[in-house]
Amino acid sequence: MADLVSMDKIVALCKRRGFIFASSEIYGGLGSTYDYGHYGVLFKQNVKNEWWRAMLQERDDIVALDSAILQHPRTWEASGHLAGFTDPMVDCRTCGQRFRADHLHDLQCPRKPSKPPGDGPDCSLTEARDFNLMFETTMGPVKDSGATVYLRPETAQGIFVNFKNVLQFSRKKPPFGIAQIGKSFRNEITPGNFVFRTREFEQMEMEFFVPPDEAPQWYEHWKQARMEWYVELGLRPDHLRLREHDPDELSHYSSATADVEYLFPIGWSELEGIANRGDFDLTQHAEYSGEKLEYFDQQTKEHYVPHVIEPAAGADRATLAFLVDAYDEEEIDTPSGAQGGEQRTVLKLHPRLAPVKVAVLPLVRKEGQPEVAREIVAALRGRMQTEYDAGGSIGKRYRRQDEIGTPFCVTVDHQTLEDRTVTVRERDSLGQDRVAIGELGDVLAAWLAQPWVSPKLGPT
Ligand code: GAP
Repeated sequence: MADLVSMDKIVALCKRRGFIFASSEIYGGLGSTYDYGHYGVLFKQNVKNEWWRAMLQERDDIVALDSAILQHPRTWEASGHLAGFTDPMVDCRTCGQRFRADHLHDLQCPRKPSKPPGDGPDCSLTEARDFNLMFETTMGPVKDSGATVYLRPETAQGIFVNFKNVLQFSRKKPPFGIAQIGKSFRNEITPGNFVFRTREFEQMEMEFFVPPDEAPQWYEHWKQARMEWYVELGLRPDHLRLREHDPDELSHYSSATADVEYLFPIGWSELEGIANRGDFDLTQHAEYSGEKLEYFDQQTKEHYVPHVIEPAAGADRATLAFLVDAYDEEEIDTPSGAQGGEQRTVLKLHPRLAPVKVAVLPLVRKEGQPEVAREIVAALRGRMQTEYDAGGSIGKRYRRQDEIGTPFCVTVDHQTLEDRTVTVRERDSLGQDRVAIGELGDVLAAWLAQPWVSPKLGPT
């Protein structure tokens, strides 16, 4: 546990380097909503691209979907969210704050932070009441009860209600999956821990429709596949675990669920859930919509309702886990070669996740070096996310790139002008190589494509 970084350090780095800001900050922020800045957008996009790659590019049994956030309100009756997507909450009559009744012991009384709510001298808590987590809004210009719609609390239901459309047009048959990435909204009573639990977040969900008797084996398959995805992208295996839910923890729709958990600074917490949802969703939507949501097996001449295995991940939570796992502070040699004595903060991110792949730095802003650096940037940027940086000392620029996790820094120096070679500095090993400008694109692309394991795991 010694290498665990604090959440405060992660938040500070995210703000300092423009990854993630508190939303509406100039108005004092808005409870647990966040905005992603330039590097945050590039980074989270890479996480999502890797998920798409695993779901679509590396297999041929999953298709993509992008369904609307607003759906027919009957969707949420059928799914059980209208009646059952609730958390128990209590209000304090003294301070006016609202708390999750089942989390009181982990929370602080706002007036006496050393005590949980309810234990302070003036606390006066109400009885626990169920609070529905769905955000309501009104569709159309008239605000009457018939116009109430909900911001979706999960992307999954958009997939179930499109099952028939997709089956018809995708030429797939079970086992096959439908994958979707998109925003979901939950009016969480106690959001917090940065982007770990927010009220607006992105999910990466895939519903895998299978013949009922194959459900147990596909459940095992997806648990393993999803664990491997995180490990392949660099999360240290000893900071990752799979936890099967106890029977009393299972959601109403699930016969088996396992959480992929990561050792966040707040302790072991859910990163992704993999559930065997049985035929619950298709059966419910068939009943509420009157549409048959079945598959007709041409071989056996039988109709059946496929069962569903669902790996449901959070894009923001995964991004946070990759950040936490990559964060490192270490002492290194100075650029002039003096041993030790220089501190750096570095994100040892998998190169595929790094927001910027290569930074091109002229050593000095004269002698034609910036022009050559610009020429290199122009040649590289069609192939990889490239950044030009001429501001500040070379040491300061290396630190900046280290903090955003850039795997390679290319330095243009005096020698470049003589022999058209540049120095390539590698982020993790700090090794330096001299490479001809003409070969640079191919050399970097080959290095970026190499298998990568976190250097925090030590020599392999
Ligand atoms: N369709 C199933 C479903 O939505 P979930 O466990 O409630 O399951 C799946 O959500 C994932 O979505 C979680 O594992 C987490 O990564 C992410 N998630 C859920 N609520 C979140 C929140 N309030 N803030 C950020 N991410 C959240």
